[in-house]
Amino acid sequence: MDTETCDVLVIGSGGAGVRAAIAARAHGASVLLVAKTLEGKAHTVMAEGGINASFGYRDPSDTWEEHFRDTVEEGVFLNNQAMAEILARDVPERVRDLERYGAVFDRTPEGTIAQRPFGGQSHPRTCYVGDTTGHEMIMTLVQEARRLGIAYRPEVCITALVPDEHNERRVAGAFGIDLKTGRYLLFSAKAIILATGGAGRVFKITSNPQEATGDGYAMALRLGARLQDMEQTQFHPTGMVYPDAARGVLVTEAVRGEGGYLINSEGRRFMADYNPEQMELSPRDQTARANYLEIQAGRGSPRGGVYLDISHKGEAFIKERLPRMVKQFSQFANQDITKTPMEVAPTAHHFMGGLAVDPVKCESRDIACLYACGEAAGGVHGANRLGGNALAETQVFGRLAGEAAGRQARMLAHATPSPEAIAAERARLEAPFFQEGASPQSARRRIGEIMWDHAGIVRSEPLLRAGLEKIAALAREPLHVHGSRRYNLEWNDWIEVQNMVLVCEAVIRSALAREESRGAHFRSDHPARDDTRGLVNIFVSSGPEGMSLSAEPVVITRLLPTKRRGD
Ligand code: FUM
Repeated sequence: MDTETCDVLVIGSGGAGVRAAIAARAHGASVLLVAKTLEGKAHTVMAEGGINASFGYRDPSDTWEEHFRDTVEEGVFLNNQAMAEILARDVPERVRDLERYGAVFDRTPEGTIAQRPFGGQSHPRTCYVGDTTGHEMIMTLVQEARRLGIAYRPEVCITALVPDEHNERRVAGAFGIDLKTGRYLLFSAKAIILATGGAGRVFKITSNPQEATGDGYAMALRLGARLQDMEQTQFHPTGMVYPDAARGVLVTEAVRGEGGYLINSEGRRFMADYNPEQMELSPRDQTARANYLEIQAGRGSPRGGVYLDISHKGEAFIKERLPRMVKQFSQFANQDITKTPMEVAPTAHHFMGGLAVDPVKCESRDIACLYACGEAAGGVHGANRLGGNALAETQVFGRLAGEAAGRQARMLAHATPSPEAIAAERARLEAPFFQEGASPQSARRRIGEIMWDHAGIVRSEPLLRAGLEKIAALAREPLHVHGSRRYNLEWNDWIEVQNMVLVCEAVIRSALAREESRGAHFRSDHPARDDTRGLVNIFVSSGPEGMSLSAEPVVITRLLPTKRRGD
């Protein structure tokens, strides 16, 4: 086993992780960034349409208060309002940071950053780079991290967070594998930032990359940290439907932001039946459910989608604003979207839940020196994230987590990672080489099917209970890994499957506990929102006796619940 030491270890190299690393470095900490794949390969690039910031360039009446209000109302009041306020207040300055690092946002003829409308928002405040905003941001951040000389280790799979040998409530290190050599690695750090993204890959159809398997959630649970709001899984209304290999690939909300229509097989703009005021720019949860219901009602396309048409805007406009969509449909589906409508259907996109953290420091509420930011953390989005708020979250809370961890590293000495925990982790990792069983790949596929069928867009108690049983049975099944530890992708799959089953259990148990419909969580057996019982965050923790749940009233700092959304 090789051992490395740093002040701040950042796990995950998407937008939140790299921003956190930059902030920690600015505090003088020695920072090491590790990730399962290559620098910048992250779900961040799938936030294509933009980043929300209330500059008010396009509509001067927009302010941070308006952004805050939209975030909380569309989060159906499940948000931690302190976090939502920080997000709305800080994000304009974080966009300026990106510009200082070299990002080039699209401009208006007057030279200000261009802003487009996005779903569920009262003002056009989504700043963009065509339809490749996340890509531009991550490339810029990676370049800035390199300029600062931040150390980076790609293809390192962290498998466990290791507690202090004398204090199980403090993290002291992380254990992992160098995927190329198979060597075990121990990172000793004063502070650890989880920027491991979400777990969209637990669903069969998703916009997420292969590595989005909830590793941070699972490792934090094993260490004793609580997760919150895990039932709140967001389905983006528009993913590609065909070819099969492209199923679920994101079709950006910017298509609707730039004037695209959703149409059913009868040629009707069906959003008029669901939200006639906001139409295609209704909140994501409502639009995703509308698409799903149209398809279920037999008004979908023969391939099982609905139509998304932007061709009326003309070729030049579409090519300027949505170049990636033009290329994506041309390359994958041999289709010219400037002439013909796309076929789209909902795709699992984002986890609103995550680690329960302090709103300002982003430190776990349960484990000292453990931080989380980006999709790994819960709280800011409540029950339904606004499109454009994911990139915002990565920058605002990435910076706060990095600063807090950097500050803490200056004040603390290294703790000693528990040797017992390290030995136990090695034994866990080696078990699948010595047991007979099914292939991790097949388990992974079955997880996707179970979650899609039992914990998808429309849920109910019988469906969820049956899903929980199936996940529990799958978790008990022994799986076998062939070969050696060296560059063994089957082993990597095994590790991810162990994380996925834990995340699935957390999602389903939380979904069973929320006996109402709120935001992305829709229960056909409890179709109404219930503010008398539902204004609580559901927390899940894991211990020797299994998982347990608790609830706390939501943090309300400014905005009291309204029924603006009509639900
Ligand atoms: O549709 C999109 O471009 C995605 C944006 C987001 O999820 O924030």
